[in-house]
Amino acid sequence: MPAIKFVNDAENLDKTVVAANGTNVRIKAVENGIDIYKFMGKLTNCGGIGQCGTCVIEVVEGMESLSPRTAFEERKLKNKPANYRLACQSLANGPGDIEVQTKPDEKAKAKAKAAQQKAAKAGKLA
Ligand code: FES
Repeated sequence: MPAIKFVNDAENLDKTVVAANGTNVRIKAVENGIDIYKFMGKLTNCGGIGQCGTCVIEVVEGMESLSPRTAFEERKLKNKPANYRLACQSLANGPGDIEVQTKPDEKAKAKAKAAQQKAAKAGKLA
């Protein structure tokens, strides 16, 4: 039985739940009061039937313990990093534990990376 750890630094979320093999990650989050949707997703999500693409999570650890990406995920997430998944399409199969970042913010990460690169470049010039 894998454990799924849901984290989100901006929301002080750090919650681990135990999941039976085959557990749907979105359902497990909802059952445990974990909010996986950004604002628009709260209003427009499809309820977990794999139609909207608003339940994006970032798998920080344990990708091998999840079911493979579905065809819908491949289409919906084609411009996203390889470790992004749709929670409603992801089944926890174990044997290892899983850690997911809820509501991943690509823009913030890109800004941080650019700032890091700029600082590194400035360091080289000094
Ligand atoms: S909730 Fe709609 S695709 Fe996951």
